[in-house]
Amino acid sequence: MPAQASSSFSAARAPRVAIVGATGAVGEEFLRVLDQRSFPMTSLKLLASARSAGKTLSFGDQTLTVEALGEHSFDDVDLALFSAGGSISREYAPLAVKAGAVVVDNSSAFRMTDGVPLVVPEVNPQAVTEAGIGLRKELKAGIIANPNCSTIIMLLAVNPLHRFAGVERIVVSTYQAASGAGAAAMRELEQQTREALSAPGGTGTVETQDVFGMQYAFNLFSHNSPVEMGGYNQEELKMVHESHKIWNQDADQGAAVSPERIRTGITATCVRVPVMRAHAESINLTFRDECSELKASELLRAAPGVTLQDDRAANAFPTPLQASHQDDVFVGRVRRDLSQPEGRGLDLFVCGDQIRKGAALNAVQIAELLLERRGAER
Ligand code: A2P
Repeated sequence: MPAQASSSFSAARAPRVAIVGATGAVGEEFLRVLDQRSFPMTSLKLLASARSAGKTLSFGDQTLTVEALGEHSFDDVDLALFSAGGSISREYAPLAVKAGAVVVDNSSAFRMTDGVPLVVPEVNPQAVTEAGIGLRKELKAGIIANPNCSTIIMLLAVNPLHRFAGVERIVVSTYQAASGAGAAAMRELEQQTREALSAPGGTGTVETQDVFGMQYAFNLFSHNSPVEMGGYNQEELKMVHESHKIWNQDADQGAAVSPERIRTGITATCVRVPVMRAHAESINLTFRDECSELKASELLRAAPGVTLQDDRAANAFPTPLQASHQDDVFVGRVRRDLSQPEGRGLDLFVCGDQIRKGAALNAVQIAELLLERRGAER
């Protein structure tokens, strides 16, 4: 854990904000989300690698210049939103905290670190308060981790049902977009699509294979994260371990601390599909208590951050394209799992924008929690 300084924030003004990785896919979305939500700021600093220094980006009607990230970048920053990969977070987030900033980190670097809250605002906002991290002198500077995009999207849909009936088991299969691998992967999917379509006979093989080392256009493949002992890849394991932490079902704490007294069994299969920026997930649930199809639809309709899109007559259900650029996670195909006793099993199909709710929006919502706490504690 990084050394804990107290927050550099002064309640007399709005926070001074920095975005680390401002030129990336998530970084650029941070700019849009902060602007669209009129996030209160005294200043906004854009940081990226030295390659991007001097480049300009639009923020509302302003043009801001990107600066090279350095060890003194956080001397005049209260809140730093990081999305430049795990190694940059590991090196610079502790420096930002030492300088008195609160870091909301989109990488996986600190997600499972003790004392670092892992937060989905609709699911466990209390984790921020419990950690004592905040934008006030008397609170700690520190790191708050943004969960993995697939975890966020799954929990938005499953959490309302879990709170009602206790989910004992989740079997999830993902259909993940290019954006999760960054801006370069999105550009490569476009490029490969062009190359494949112009190949003799159409949809043929492609030359450009820099990001994944294989053809992505007109193909799909097991998620590109490293495969661990036991055969699960890291993305799949993140969905398991992060969900347990967010639901307070960590192994070392045991099931007794969970309000539902359940440690949900979770098994995931993560797959990359040639879609630009929204993930889809097929989710099978087993409940401890009864949860009918009707009740689940009612709960999902009322759930914050969720839109129920479940029109059987029209065969109209969530799609990644429709979910793109949307704040909400879309849920449909809500149906009884006929292989389980009545009321004990449901299937869902879920789509959510990976860059937005899966990353930038969730992080900005965490930052908004910090501001609300400041208001509430005055
Ligand atoms: P840059 O554009 O200068 O390389 P994505 O996940 O979409 O690929 O974006 C990664 C982000 O992380 C970009 O903004 C990128 O900046 C930034 N980044 C990569 N390497 C560094 C580095 N060494 N220092 C600071 N930012 C970095």
